Amino acid sequence: MEPVGVGQQSVIGGLSTQTCAIAGGKGGVGKSLVSVSLAYWLGRLKKDVVLMDGDLGGANLHTMLGMRIPKRNLDDFILKRVDSLEDILLPTSMSNVRLLAGGSEIPALANPNFAQKSRILRGMKRISADMLLVDLGAGASLNTLDLFLACPRKIVVMTPQPTSIQNAYGFIKSAFFRNVSRSLRQTPLKGLFDVSARADDPIPQSVEEVLQEVSVGAPEALEDVRASIEDLRIELIVNMARDAKEFRVGEMIREVCMKFLGLQVHALGTVPYDRTLENWAKTMDKGSLGKDSGSEALRAVYEIAYDIIGSEDRQRRAA
Ligand SMILES: Nc1ncnc2c1ncn2[C@@H]1O[C@H](COP(=O)(O)OP(=O)(O)OP(=O)(O)O)[C@@H](O)[C@H]1O
Ligand SMILES: [Mg+2]
Repeated sequence: MEPVGVGQQSVIGGLSTQTCAIAGGKGGVGKSLVSVSLAYWLGRLKKDVVLMDGDLGGANLHTMLGMRIPKRNLDDFILKRVDSLEDILLPTSMSNVRLLAGGSEIPALANPNFAQKSRILRGMKRISADMLLVDLGAGASLNTLDLFLACPRKIVVMTPQPTSIQNAYGFIKSAFFRNVSRSLRQTPLKGLFDVSARADDPIPQSVEEVLQEVSVGAPEALEDVRASIEDLRIELIVNMARDAKEFRVGEMIREVCMKFLGLQVHALGTVPYDRTLENWAKTMDKGSLGKDSGSEALRAVYEIAYDIIGSEDRQRRAA
């Protein structure tokens, strides 16, 4: 099967502004727990939410929601047993939240071919909901990056641990370069960031260096590249923060991205480490999320959900 690579991105784009990717360079940082908690609050705030398991190679969001074997999942859509992703959405115990469960029948789906990826993106475009939340797998594979970049709203989840900070920064950098190479695929600079293609020539490391190289090698693409960089809006959620210093990590990463990449990222919020949420994840008692109104983490996610709704409303009014 042919993995989707540079030059095949025509299927990307066009997803509605209410589609939000939740990614992160590292496993276990809380992407799924943050996705579920966001879905919970958005649902409680009367939004019609679809929570999609976008971890194509290791789907397990349904387990977190207390479903052992989901009745329908992405396999049914990929194998054309149903025509629409709407047909496989499952109700959850959270009000106004439906689940699009990941599949497990197709081993190669971790690395979908072009047709499969196009079908998934086309299907996503047709989902009718106020908000589609896509919980992505860990890592920065091209497929994960492409799914991330296809979503108008892009959230990176990280923890304050140094390895997670490093991975989150690496993920943001990879997304940035992947985004630029998409604008260059019809130009002589196609493959600009392929290490193998450059031999001793160093790869540009920042917005400024990229623009400099494009202005020399493909001036006709300069405006497109500039626009693609301006459009790339990445938001950060720091999860499992334990003290005041860790609450400042989001702001620190924002500054680092600006200083070294020249890229504007936005610190969306910080979620504290919270034993209640940890216990909920352990028991996976599907009905109990939100029962403990003392959960600090859930309160923090509420603020984030509220901000997301506010900014979506502002965007809609401006459009
Ligand atoms: N705010 C939090 N407070 C306490 N524990 C948390 C919090 N967020 C996540 N955890 C713990 O981290 C574990 C991993 O969370 P989760 O499964 O959401 O990570 P993930 O990033 O989706 O992992 P994967 O990369 O494997 O998909 C949870 O089971 C829970 O124990
Ligand atoms: Mg997960």
